[in-house]
Amino acid sequence: MELFWKTHMRFQVIKAVCVLFLVVLLGQEGVESRNVKTVTTSFEYSGINCRAHSVSFTDFGGVGDGKTSNTKAFQSAISRLSEYASDGGAQLYVPAGKWLTGSFSLISHFTLYLHKDAVLLASQDMSEWPVIKPLPSYGRGRDAAAGRYTSLIFGTNLTDVIVTGDNGTIDGQGAFWWQQFHRKKLKYTRPYLIELMFSDNIQISDLTLLNSPSWNVHPVYSSNIIVKGITILAPVTSPNTDGINPDSCTNTRIEDCYIVSGDDCVAVKSGWDEYGIAFGMPTKQLAIRRLTCISPFSATIALGSEMSGGIQDVRAEDITAIHTESGVRIKTAVGRGGYVKDIFVKRMTLHTMKWVFWMTGNYGSHADTHYDPNALPEISGINYRDVVADNVTMAARLEGISNDPFTGICIANVTIGMAAKAKKQPWTCTDIAGMTSGVTPSPCTLLPDQGVEKITACDFPQEGLPIDNLELKKCTYSLKLF
Ligand SMILES: *[C@@H]1O[C@H](CO)[C@@H](O)[C@H](O)[C@H]1NC(C)=O
Ligand SMILES: *[C@@H]1O[C@H](CO)[C@@H](O)[C@H](O)[C@H]1NC(C)=O
Ligand SMILES: *[C@@H]1O[C@H](CO)[C@@H](O)[C@H](O)[C@H]1NC(C)=O
Ligand SMILES: *[C@@H]1O[C@H](CO)[C@@H](O)[C@H](O)[C@H]1NC(C)=O
Repeated sequence: MELFWKTHMRFQVIKAVCVLFLVVLLGQEGVESRNVKTVTTSFEYSGINCRAHSVSFTDFGGVGDGKTSNTKAFQSAISRLSEYASDGGAQLYVPAGKWLTGSFSLISHFTLYLHKDAVLLASQDMSEWPVIKPLPSYGRGRDAAAGRYTSLIFGTNLTDVIVTGDNGTIDGQGAFWWQQFHRKKLKYTRPYLIELMFSDNIQISDLTLLNSPSWNVHPVYSSNIIVKGITILAPVTSPNTDGINPDSCTNTRIEDCYIVSGDDCVAVKSGWDEYGIAFGMPTKQLAIRRLTCISPFSATIALGSEMSGGIQDVRAEDITAIHTESGVRIKTAVGRGGYVKDIFVKRMTLHTMKWVFWMTGNYGSHADTHYDPNALPEISGINYRDVVADNVTMAARLEGISNDPFTGICIANVTIGMAAKAKKQPWTCTDIAGMTSGVTPSPCTLLPDQGVEKITACDFPQEGLPIDNLELKKCTYSLKLF
């Protein structure tokens, strides 16, 4: 009966489309009817690359009832589409519906597109989450020393891959995982929502990510990445639901994202202690623009704490935070090695914060006990300017490492309105060096005021990053029926 209706409906659609085409054909002379293709679904979107082949997930046996597992359907659809990788690439369209699925992997020259009413629902059946090895730059999983569950949407060693949609949803159904984590019942590290490893030319855009089991978006050992127009929502008390974590990545731009989460909204990373030092892959050339963050127990932008491969050349601008623990936070420790240098931040607007600026040299949290106590991080060239904040408990808490001061700190044109219940001493500074200009309330003596003529002294690079030259193309999806 159902099949009959489907066939019947499809016939009706084809009939309607044929009538339309007849009308079009009558108005155009010389069109060869043999080449006419009928079109039922068609839309445009912006992509780093467009695809020659379009396929709807329903044509691969996908069932959007919220109950039937689609893991195998995704896997087989994508593996069949890999034959188009060298023939213009393929785009897989996920229509409106609730698509229950476990982890599946992407391929090169491929676009996954979610309709605005499509919801990918993460399965709670652990057998649908294959376990993979810990990241080499971490040496172990973040939750558990053994392996880690593969992310919901995973990819490794890819080039030219897009996950996008018309603000379609990926729902991690994380409560199940958070509970297991709190009860210390997990044998492996929780999965992320989207992880791409060792990949180049990545676009993740125009999606809503809900209730991730752990981190939301994790590009790692990758380059040339655009993350744009992503809404990330998770309870502010949920464990480790970081928003976007570029990790040992080069040339990345994160733009127009709105994040409410239980951990750092953006956390820039590059590996952990001796494993990160040995792997030696920094995060560099990163732009963060027009980010809005709500995270009462974490940072708007965190650098670290895993930064052992180094973090260099980060530019953040037009950052808004509401009821967030800190604005920018640098987290590191003895044993991390690596560096955080050439960090540029301008135009932050902050409401209700505990600390506007926070640097922590004794973060601890080691992968194991084998870290090198002589591996000291180098923190230098940290520039913050044009910041307005209100209802702040403490302006700054800047704590370097005793035989390893954090240097070249520049803070200018900053106005911090203190909360009624603010701490008496708005700044605490130890083992740091640098300067300030035009900062209220009056900063600590380790950051002497250079006078208002130095108000533009803190650097921000004029020229863009290479990723800014990458223009998105106007792509079309159109499903051809015959
Ligand atoms: C992916 O690339 C990395 C780095 O080039 C390499 O070490 C690894 O073996 C590759 N993995 C696969 C599955 O090809
Ligand atoms: C996307 O959906 C989320 C959740 O419903 C909503 O808050 C957000 O405003 C939407 N974004 C766009 C660009 O439509
Ligand atoms: C100081 O910061 C404010 C707020 O961001 C900005 O409007 C103003 O132009 C800045 N002043 C200078 C001299 O850059
Ligand atoms: C100021 O911050 C406190 C928490 O520190 C909050 O309870 C209060 O609502 C905030 N006030 C305003 C005006 O935002």
